[in-house]
Order: sequence, then structure tokens, then C-alpha cells
Amino acid sequence: MLVLGIDTSCDDTSLALLRDGKTLLSNVVSSQVDLHRVFGGVVPEIASRRHIELIEGLYRETLRQGDISGSSIDAIGVTAGPGLIGSVLVGLCFAKGLALSLGKPLIAVNHIEAHAMSIFLEKEVAFPFIALVVSGGHTIMLLIEGFGKYRALGSTRDDAAGEAFDKIAKYLGIGYPGGKVIEDLSAKGKGDYVAFPRPMADEKNYDFSYSGLKTAMINYIKKYGVTDYDLSDIMASFQEAAFDVLTNKTIRAARDLEISRIVVGGGVASNGRLRQLFAERCREEGMEALFSSPEFCTDNGAMVARVAYQYYSEGTISPLNVAGYSRMKIH
Ligand code: KG4
Ligand code: ZN
Repeated sequence: MLVLGIDTSCDDTSLALLRDGKTLLSNVVSSQVDLHRVFGGVVPEIASRRHIELIEGLYRETLRQGDISGSSIDAIGVTAGPGLIGSVLVGLCFAKGLALSLGKPLIAVNHIEAHAMSIFLEKEVAFPFIALVVSGGHTIMLLIEGFGKYRALGSTRDDAAGEAFDKIAKYLGIGYPGGKVIEDLSAKGKGDYVAFPRPMADEKNYDFSYSGLKTAMINYIKKYGVTDYDLSDIMASFQEAAFDVLTNKTIRAARDLEISRIVVGGGVASNGRLRQLFAERCREEGMEALFSSPEFCTDNGAMVARVAYQYYSEGTISPLNVAGYSRMKIH
């Protein structure tokens, strides 16, 4: 069974062809970072216009790389939300047009669910597990008992973790997007140089907060300044604070719910230090930490195809009038 997956939820135009839920024939991702860099963040109107310009050509490129024709596609999976609504609608409308013209079923996919389940592109994971999705738009912890069986345990009360990285990098003018820039700087720095706060670390819920940490970091720089000499130490200290809370609270949830597997997905999960921390702390707890390969952590069409494949194999498809959403619950 051949599934086309489409994701245009933010600033990447991504399409992939997945055979039988595991063999990736093509995975095309066109990043818009060069367009948004000058603004230090994604400009929604520019993002949706670019998706419109790119999507048809990228669809043809996806078919070419997979060496197949459109008529061989069995089903079309597409992100219907959450995301920047203009961007979401470009992918969704394109997918609907394709479904109509090819006479193939459409499967609307939740973007957060796709991040949480992207691990299944590379391995089968036994249920239940805790999934932590950390990206530029989301920081959410889920209990996953099967495909479609999700319970939200906690999420950020303000900024997403990746958003805090991006905003700090923008404030300092050190590059865009901030995640990878801060990771690279941090690798040369001392994580205990500044004792930044660990927001909500001791609260008995599974929620997160990144706005206060971002402000604490900016206030520190306003007060003490930053030099070439200590930039990497300050960045490493911020990164440690951000990841300390993520790892500790997720492991605490797993302990409370007596679950021994944690899956981490989303763009921030491509960070080597976060992966190392989860791996070490899970080992100490007798738990297993699992990550997708970095290319499947950041936005991609393959993860959408994987979820769509699952639903289509179980006989679930979406009506052609399915709506797109900027916010979307995951159950
Ligand atoms: O999942 P994604 O591609 O898009 C969203 O759905 O948001 O995630 C993008 C986010 C950005 O905030 C980016 O700074 C962050 O992921 N990110 C990272 C790293 N690579 C990307 N954050 C920390 N370390 C990284 N290596
Ligand atoms: Zn994403």
C-alpha cells in the first residue's frame, strides 16, 4: 500500500511516499529558513505564499524520486492542524484536489500525533509509552496506548521549548533557527555557569513553562552582559535548565504511571544533548528512551504518511470537506 504524506503546517513544505508503512520511497522537505531568517521567526503570510509556489513542483519531485506515477498512490495523508492556518490550508487544499482528481481517499492527520508516532517509521514500539513532543510550536506530553489512543498529560503554559530557543537567538542576533545554533554553542560551554531557574520543576502536574526561563536569560544578559568568552557558557546553562525540566518531568510521569518507555519527538528532539540526557536518566531509572532519527524529528511528510497508513489500514478515512485547524486537540 502506497501512501503520500503531506505536511505544510509551518515553514517546511514536505511530501513523502511510504510503502506498507515502512519503506520510504521519497521524503522531500523544502525548508524556508532562508526566507524567514531576516525576521528571526516565521512570518505566516510569507510561509503560506511560499507553500503555494512550491507544492505542485515538490509533489512532482516526490513522485520522480519514488519512481512512480500519481495513479499508483493508494491514499493521501495530510496535516489538517495544528499549525499556521494559512500554511495548513495550502497542504490540505492541495491534498483534497489530488484526492478528487486521482479518486483516492484522504486521511486528515494531527501534526502533533505525527510527531509522537514518527518513531514507527523506523521501529515498532510496544504500547503503552509516554511521548514527549518538543518543537517550535508545541511542548506536550502524552500517554500513548495505541494509534488513536492518546491522553494529554501536560503541555506548556506559554512558549514552546523550541520557541524559547528561537526567541533567545533572535534577541542575541546569533542566528536562525535558534535551536541548532544554541546546541552548537552549548557544546563548547559549561552548563553550570549560570544557575537559571527550572520553571515548574517541582509542581505536581506535567506542565511546562518556557517564557519565564527565556526572560530570566534575557535579564541576566541585560544585567551582566555577554562576551565572546562566556556566550557558550550562558547558552549551555540555558540549555541545561530547559532540558532538565523536560527530562525530569517526563521521567516522573513515566514513574507515576508505571510506564517504562519514553519516546521523544519534534524538532527539539534532534538536539544531541537532549537525547543524551534522556538516555542517561532513563537508564538510571531502568526505562528505555527512544528517538526518531533527526530528519524525522523536524517537520516531514513521512511521519504524516505513517499515521495515515495506520488509519487507512484500519478502514478510517476523512470526508473531503474536513476542515483545517490552527489549534487541534489530541485525544
Ligand atoms: O518540529 P519542527 O520542525 O517544527 C514545528 O512543528 O515547530 O521544530 C522546529 C523547532 C524550532 O524551534 C527549532 O529551533 C527547534 O525545533 N530545533 C532545535 C534543534 N533543531 C531544531 N532545538 C534545539 N536543538 C536542536 N538541535
Ligand atoms: Zn512540527
